[in-house]
Amino acid sequence: MQKAVFSDYRESADFISERIGGEKPDAALILGSGLGDFADRLEGQIVIPYREIPHFPISTVSYQKGELVFGRLNGKKILAMNGRFHYYEGWEMWQTAYPVGVFRLLGIDTMIVTNAAGGIGYSDGRSMRPGDLVCVTDQIKLAPMSPLRGANIEEFGPRFFDMQSVFDKKLIALAHEVAAAQGFELLDGVYAYMSGPQYETPAEIRALGVLGANLVGMSTVAENIFAAQLGIRVLCVSCVTNMAAGITGAAITEDEVVEVASSISSKFEALIGGVIERL
Ligand code: HPA
Repeated sequence: MQKAVFSDYRESADFISERIGGEKPDAALILGSGLGDFADRLEGQIVIPYREIPHFPISTVSYQKGELVFGRLNGKKILAMNGRFHYYEGWEMWQTAYPVGVFRLLGIDTMIVTNAAGGIGYSDGRSMRPGDLVCVTDQIKLAPMSPLRGANIEEFGPRFFDMQSVFDKKLIALAHEVAAAQGFELLDGVYAYMSGPQYETPAEIRALGVLGANLVGMSTVAENIFAAQLGIRVLCVSCVTNMAAGITGAAITEDEVVEVASSISSKFEALIGGVIERL
């Protein structure tokens, strides 16, 4: 499919802006597996199904909804994506990141991204466990496709751009302060993208570990790349739902991933809610 042009993003943004009464959200929130219920906490909700938004892709992951939810939380205006787009569903890489360009046109400059991930061994000197929350400090994408391959949309930023400051240090520090105040450990880690939908082999995980990855997952990096071009600052938090392939030898199943993500959703929600309050 042909890459979107600037006017497509504009039409999506204008549609959303009209639905939310012209408000400028303080932050966008991309909700990964297990955190879908978070949007329920927004007050004065305005729900916009993706299928109604011009040019928007439509999520196909069965346990994720496909809607934008606008509302207030802890005094802040939030636009949440309930359900995201994955390359393994068949979307092009640029489509998986499409909403981020729309966020920018809505005036959004802060994005909180969550996901479920496999834990690769150690982080911060201790063994990771399912249920850990990890602040993503950097990412590795070995898969060759970039969401920004093709004609550059000059309105969105330069063709070549820096990736070193997209994971915003102030937001990371804030997340750690909130976790400490709430009395739980928030690890730091590097997230490696694998395109899926198959989980990885033990050899792939060993390779990613050697490369410096602490987490592995099938989402997130495209959105972060587009955010970097757009100058949107990102806080990205992963929930470790399982140990990555070969670490314990146990089979990895989607049920386990969803179950563990749901079981710690209240901790996850408290962290994200606390961060939002102090944005
Ligand atoms: N690998 C890739 N994606 C994932 C995993 C994993 O082990 N767990 C949750 N998402």
